[in-house]
Amino acid sequence: MEQLSIRTPDDFHVHFRDQEMLPETVAASARCFGRAVAMPNLVPPLTTAEAVLSYRKRLRGSRPQGSSFEPLLTLYLTDQTSAETVRLAQQAGVVAAKLYPAGATTNSNSGVTALEKIYPALEEMALLAMPLLVHGEVTAAEVDVFDREKVFIEGVLGPLVKRYPELKVVMEHITTADAAQFVLAGNARIAATITPQHLLLNRNDLLVGGLHPHNYCLPVLKRNTHQQALRQVVKSGSRKFFLGSDSAPHERSRKESACGCAGCYSAWSALELYAQVFDELECLDKLEAFASENGADFYGLPRNPGTVTLRREHWTVPEQIILPNGRPIVPFFAGKEVRWKVQAV
Ligand code: NCD
Ligand code: ZN
Repeated sequence: MEQLSIRTPDDFHVHFRDQEMLPETVAASARCFGRAVAMPNLVPPLTTAEAVLSYRKRLRGSRPQGSSFEPLLTLYLTDQTSAETVRLAQQAGVVAAKLYPAGATTNSNSGVTALEKIYPALEEMALLAMPLLVHGEVTAAEVDVFDREKVFIEGVLGPLVKRYPELKVVMEHITTADAAQFVLAGNARIAATITPQHLLLNRNDLLVGGLHPHNYCLPVLKRNTHQQALRQVVKSGSRKFFLGSDSAPHERSRKESACGCAGCYSAWSALELYAQVFDELECLDKLEAFASENGADFYGLPRNPGTVTLRREHWTVPEQIILPNGRPIVPFFAGKEVRWKVQAV
């Protein structure tokens, strides 16, 4: 197959950041996605309907001219988030709420310290059919960083979905066979997103032959057997898994640093890299459901009208991109060859 047209896809997990970064990040997603779920881990985090609405304005205002790209907004859960806050957010058009265990990742310090604190918010979300998006890692210092997802499933997520079987839950950016298994075995209200980096790479790509800071993200890349399990699950065509790139830009100096930030800025190549993986797995016929149907169906959103076309074409991801503030950022897969390309419309 040399060319593939699919229904216009959505990206169910993106970090656009804010202010001067937006013209770059919004355009990069609008290039091929119809909609994208914007993560709320800004500084300060988006903890109220008003904060989210004002962010939506900034996102919409940063779209390239004529673009119909639509950002979908999320609420950042804290220990203080009430049922009322959730209700107001939903009325304002917020599509989901994000659970960051406090300290788990970038800008998560205001996250939730104990799930009991947000039981009323979770009950409200179950009533409203508003998905809970979960960063699925424990933060206890004694838990090895490679085990944090598995321990989270056993200690937190498993009990949570038992307590709230009606709650829609998306386990974000899953990285392990354990997570894939958990989602597959769960009821129809449990789903997961998978990033391009966790399908393409494993921890050797982070740690062998030197330290590769641009492959560092959270949850951290796992061993090869986990990567293979994730590849098998997308190949299976299960409707419980969908596209969420976790495109997460950090300026070059913050990645190439003595204490580098977690996050891969993949928006420049995400859809193409998924196509490459599905191609390698000989399941390009499954790409459309993963990229353009499963997520919308799970969220209860209409599927996008329109199509995008990918062509088998070799191109190289730029070594760096200059942000509007003049500072460089290194995109995911910089300098590497990609074998598919979205055709400009
Ligand atoms: C994300 C970021 O930079 O905001 N980083 C990452 O490594 N994925 C946060 C997150 O999704 O964990
Ligand atoms: Zn993320």
